Amino acid sequence: MTTADIGKNNGQVATDDQAPVVELRGTGKSYGNIRALHGVDLAVRPGRVTCVLGDNGAGKSTLIKIISGLHQHTEGEFLVDGEPVRFSTPREALDRGIATVYQDLATVPLMPVWRNFFLGSEMTKGPWPVRRLDIARMKKTADEELRNMGIVLDDLEQPIGTLSGGQRQCVAIARAVYFGARVLILDEPTAALGVKQSGVVLKYIAAARERGLGVIFITHNPHHAYMVGDHFSVLRLGTLELSASRDEVSLEELTNHMAGGAELAALKHELAQVGGVDVEELPEEADLQAPVAASPEGNS
Ligand SMILES: Nc1ncnc2c1ncn2[C@@H]1O[C@H](COP(=O)(O)OP(=O)(O)OP(=O)(O)O)[C@@H](O)[C@H]1O
Ligand SMILES: [Mg+2]
Repeated sequence: MTTADIGKNNGQVATDDQAPVVELRGTGKSYGNIRALHGVDLAVRPGRVTCVLGDNGAGKSTLIKIISGLHQHTEGEFLVDGEPVRFSTPREALDRGIATVYQDLATVPLMPVWRNFFLGSEMTKGPWPVRRLDIARMKKTADEELRNMGIVLDDLEQPIGTLSGGQRQCVAIARAVYFGARVLILDEPTAALGVKQSGVVLKYIAAARERGLGVIFITHNPHHAYMVGDHFSVLRLGTLELSASRDEVSLEELTNHMAGGAELAALKHELAQVGGVDVEELPEEADLQAPVAASPEGNS
């Protein structure tokens, strides 16, 4: 697959009429008397990328915590394959094929790539009590699976800590696919990455979709979302502000929803009341909404 393929769905089978694997209906979550999420509808279909966007505190993490089995919803319904569920542990979600790749990936930096690929689910050989790791088979399988996803690494023996953040995300995606995920949840996978590496991760999000997975892609970045997304759900203060398919919303509209044009105007007005800030010197709204390349940590 080339970068030009991003945003295209070559899978013939995926359609919007297909039954959702995961569905939320009027779902909400309160932590004590803090209502973090309220009345959210969301459908995740095979071979489709559902983007969940929203500012800090909008409820994105709360939403994926419900789906991934970390927290339980307190209102509405949560269905898997059309059946209402309530997971008490992430293991239960995983058993239903819902895999989550968190931003702080649970990898062991000094262990080789292939070893991390099988971390916690190692292949073994020989009868008990002399069972031992089947290293050859694990290396071969990891290599095949990474290639299947179009991920080419020079050497699977290298410690995973030596890979770039983007490459590590890709290994995590390939791993979830191999272990039978039907739904892949990615929590801000491009947030800490530069432009080029973000592109690489977006490419594998598209690859996971081509393999027929339903992807939930959490991001702050409407440009990243629009490159791979089939559906866009924008959260604001815990409720759905926008839920639209690709043909119902343009990148410009999506960016506007995210940037909160009205809020920026209000902020400018507020700043005008504070002495010492020359509002005429502040950037125009349009400039504030322009894409800002994420800078890798350290070079500010
Ligand atoms: N365990 C908790 N207890 C109490 N309140 C919580 C808890 N987790 C989240 N909240 C509140 O719920 C709201 C939504 O938080 P959430 O973490 O889901 O937002 P988010 O969209 O993921 O934000 P960010 O972009 O900063 O990650 C926030 O107001 C937050 O303070
Ligand atoms: Mg969050």
